[in-house]
Amino acid sequence: MAQTGYVHGEPDDEEVSRLVRQAEFVAGFSLNTFEAPPGARVLDVGTGVGAIAAQIARLFPGIELTGVDVSAVQIARAKALHPVATYLVADGSSLPFADESFDCVHMSWVLEHVEDPIAILRETRRVLRRGGVGHFSEVDHNTLVVWPPIDGLDTTMTVMNDVQRAAGGDPFIGARLESLVRAAGFTNVHMRRAVLRGDDDHEAERVELQTQFAGLLESLGEALSEADMVQARRVAAALRGLGPGSYMEYQPVIVRASG
Ligand SMILES: C[S@@+](CC[C@H](N)C(=O)[O-])C[C@H]1O[C@@H](n2cnc3c(N)ncnc32)[C@H](O)[C@@H]1O
Repeated sequence: MAQTGYVHGEPDDEEVSRLVRQAEFVAGFSLNTFEAPPGARVLDVGTGVGAIAAQIARLFPGIELTGVDVSAVQIARAKALHPVATYLVADGSSLPFADESFDCVHMSWVLEHVEDPIAILRETRRVLRRGGVGHFSEVDHNTLVVWPPIDGLDTTMTVMNDVQRAAGGDPFIGARLESLVRAAGFTNVHMRRAVLRGDDDHEAERVELQTQFAGLLESLGEALSEADMVQARRVAAALRGLGPGSYMEYQPVIVRASG
């Protein structure tokens, strides 16, 4: 089984709200390059509480959607909260499906948490029909820009990134996602960065980035020491308090490829 270094804890109600809001935000800049005609067999790997599956189902009506996650707790919540798919507990590196079972595979914010991302990518390619589409979104925490500077933000991001790396993950995986997808055997690989920026002219985007990153830091409760968590909560409050004249930018990576 693939080692999973998931650092955001079990999905209590607060964490579910964060994931739902994140999925709504993500759909706007990620799923605009996802395609699935009615009747398409679509697999969402690492579906979590089903928040992104709900967005996929909303945007692509009539598809046959399956969601898998290695965590039974996440799958139980997905079934209860977002009954838009057939949900199964399964490890992305060992999927319980025959070769070429799906027309499209979607996977967001999963590979950043695993020790062997190529094993999961190879497995997603195995279950994708030849010529089917893989759509992968990933983080690159090196791209976060915040103005004016927030005291302790760099230290807190470093602590969070180090915790994720110690657990086997990679908070900068977006930078190498394209080459990982190629190494897993996909063809027609197309990589793009979504430039998310918020400033006085893009107020809604700024509020969203403030909320997303503050929520991310606050969700680290059990992964950080108490002292680091006090600092993370202080930084999160400062992020939420950014006002007129401030600026935030972040560039996640989205790779689309053929199986
Ligand atoms: C940050 S959440 C993303 C959830 C969802 N994809 C979304 O975009 O809202 C990462 C999810 O990946 C799952 N995960 C981690 N390692 C996995 C693996 N080896 N196989 C399947 N799921 C995995 C975790 O349990 C968690 O639910």
